[in-house]
Amino acid sequence: MDKKDYTKQLKKIKSRTYFFCSIAILSIILLLFVIYGNFTNKNVFMEGSSFQLFTIDNYISSLDNSKTSLEIKYGFELFKNTPKYLGPQNGNEELAYAGNNLSCNNCHLFAGTKPYSAPLIGVVDRFPQFRGRENKMGTIEERINGCFERSMNGRMMPADSKEMKAFVSYLKWLDRFADKDGDYKHKGFVKIEIPNRPVDLVKGKHIFDNLCFACHGKQGQGLKIKNSLVYQYPPLWGDDSFNNGAGMTRVITAAQFIKANMPFGATYQVPILSDEEAYDVAGYISQQQRPQKINPEIDFPDLKRKPVSTPYPPYADDFSIIQHQMGPFQPIMEYYKQKYSMTKTK
Ligand code: HEC
Ligand code: HEC
Repeated sequence: MDKKDYTKQLKKIKSRTYFFCSIAILSIILLLFVIYGNFTNKNVFMEGSSFQLFTIDNYISSLDNSKTSLEIKYGFELFKNTPKYLGPQNGNEELAYAGNNLSCNNCHLFAGTKPYSAPLIGVVDRFPQFRGRENKMGTIEERINGCFERSMNGRMMPADSKEMKAFVSYLKWLDRFADKDGDYKHKGFVKIEIPNRPVDLVKGKHIFDNLCFACHGKQGQGLKIKNSLVYQYPPLWGDDSFNNGAGMTRVITAAQFIKANMPFGATYQVPILSDEEAYDVAGYISQQQRPQKINPEIDFPDLKRKPVSTPYPPYADDFSIIQHQMGPFQPIMEYYKQKYSMTKTK
């Protein structure tokens, strides 16, 4: 082999090595993307410390086309893209049960499976259940309608409608993710230390302006997915938001939701805000303008059962409206404990 051939050979080896190295690097990058994509997927589900990953979307799309499976799939679709089917602009007045364009998924995160975002795993089994608001036993359909009339600022959906049946089928299907005893240990919202002072609106606004407005908008108006009725970032107040009868309007409930879920990405294991920050920003949001629940005075036939942070009267106590809206809540809770032996948590 003369010198020329030798250099030629060397060049060939060099370019091949470059080629294979680039392919290897590209594959690694691609692999990392896939793994990262999976980890940041909205449906990643973390359970306790040992985490278990699955995507609800994958589960759902692998269901067959039996009548029950189709009903579950429709329920899932309604849950994630509610305004497309049941919102005020869905194109069919009869099905416009929701008065705003929120989706169930906006508050019950990851299709109703995220710990401490009022997950709906195991919930069907807990019904019928005694409801303090109505002071009587209520069915799962009535509970869903509670969210229709308040969180969705809309009206009741008939229990025998195709859509209500689909919701219930989907929720029943979610029960497979319950603990062995059929219950779910991360239900409801995370407990927080409620500061024994009124909400600090200046601090609340400061937190909103720094940590929330980038997604939810300067006016809390949210942002829709392009060419869709569905929100990418739901509104926190304003005409298209939940009404003042919704659980999310109560400072304590909103603070607990925010603590384990917001800014988006926070979990109960890795929260981003302190309890005080969650309380102040929840107070700031609850003081903004939003739709009003009709007939608020007939809520809670037994007024003692009204949560202490319900923002509108009448109340079974003499604390001011502003204290029921902005705290401090401990003196009100203490009053119900002394007078009625009732332990209030919200
Ligand atoms: C604005 C937020 C919000 C939206 C949107 C919303 N919900 Fe809710 N939902 C809540 C809150 C908050 C609670 C818990 C209320 C409480 O603590 O009093 C709740 C509770 C429930 C419960 C009872 C859970 C339990 O553990 O007992 C069901 C069932 C439910 N919602 C279904 C739905 C469905 C179905 C939709 C869509 C049609 C929906 N929700 C939309 C906020 C929301
Ligand atoms: C990175 C974007 C992002 C940031 C930042 C963020 N959110 Fe959210 N927020 C969301 C998304 C997305 C949802 C709905 C979840 C879904 O549909 O999967 C949501 C839902 C909510 C909800 C319930 C739904 C509703 O309409 O009210 C509240 C309350 C909320 N966020 C409060 C906050 C607060 C308070 C902050 C700041 C501390 C904050 N968010 C920061 C993305 C964000």
